[in-house]
Amino acid sequence: MPLSLQKVVAPLEQAEFLDHLRTRSMTFRRSSGSAPFKGVLDWTALRKMIDLGAIPLSSLRVHVRAEPVPELFYIEDGKISASKLAKLLESGASVIAVPLQPHFPALNELCADIRTSTGEEIKIGAIVSTGTDGALKLHYDENDLIIIQIEGSKRWRIFGSPVTNPVSETPRAVRPDGTPPVFDEVLRPGDFLFLPAGNWHQCDNGPELSLHVGIFFSAPTGYDMTLDLLRQVSEEDMFRVPLTRLGDPAARARAEAAIKDSLIEKIKRIPSMTARPPKPESGS
Ligand SMILES: [Fe+2]
Repeated sequence: MPLSLQKVVAPLEQAEFLDHLRTRSMTFRRSSGSAPFKGVLDWTALRKMIDLGAIPLSSLRVHVRAEPVPELFYIEDGKISASKLAKLLESGASVIAVPLQPHFPALNELCADIRTSTGEEIKIGAIVSTGTDGALKLHYDENDLIIIQIEGSKRWRIFGSPVTNPVSETPRAVRPDGTPPVFDEVLRPGDFLFLPAGNWHQCDNGPELSLHVGIFFSAPTGYDMTLDLLRQVSEEDMFRVPLTRLGDPAARARAEAAIKDSLIEKIKRIPSMTARPPKPESGS
C-alpha cells in the first residue's frame, strides 16, 4: 500500500489533521505503532542512496554544533562520500537532507497525495544527527512541518510566542531567549509532531543516532503573488530604466505614470494562486 497523508497522520483522521493545518494549531501524539516510513526511509536507506550517488550535493548540508561544515570535508571526486559522512556523524555532526522526494518514489507519491489534499507545495527531508547538540540553532520555519521521529530520540523544545504567518521577509522577531518552553518532549520512534510555521524551536539529540523525517507544507500567500509580479516586471525594460537619467521632469513624470498604469494592468491579470496546481517539488 502506498504512503499517504492518512497513513502518516493516523490515528488522527485526515480531515482532523487538515483542520490543524488550516488553523496552524500545534499537535503532538506518541507513536501509535503504525511506523508508516518503515522500509522507506531510515539511515540505512539514506546512506545507501548516498552511496549510489543518487543524492545531489545541493540536497545535503552538514552541520557541527549548529554551524555549517564546508563541503570539502564530505565530498570525494565531486560526489558526496557516504563514508566521510559516516565519520563526521561519528564525531557528532548532523546531516540535513532535503528535498528527498525526487530520489525516493514512495516519498514522491506521498507528496503527490498531500498536494492533492491541500493544493500546497510539499517537500520531504530528513535530519540525521549524533552528539548532544541539534542540527540547528534556535529558529522558526516559514513552512508548516510534520515531524516523525524514525530512529533514536530527540528533545524538542518549543518557545512562545509564535511569529504569525511568517514569510521570508518578515521582520526578524525577538528571540524568546531565557523564556521557559511551552513544549518540552523527547520524541521517540513513531512519535508525531505538527509544528506550525513561526514556532521558535530547538532540538537536542539523544545518546544515539537520531533520524527524523520532516514534511514541509508551503502555502501560497499574497507575498508570493507579489514576488511573481516582481519577477515579471524585472523582465521588462520599462521597469529597469534609471528614472533620474530621463531628460526633463516632464519626461520623468510620463515614465512614472506609464509604470503605474502598467502595474495596475498587470495586477488585474495576476492568475489565481489557489486555482493553479502547486509545483511538483521545490528545492531546499
Ligand atoms: Fe526547524
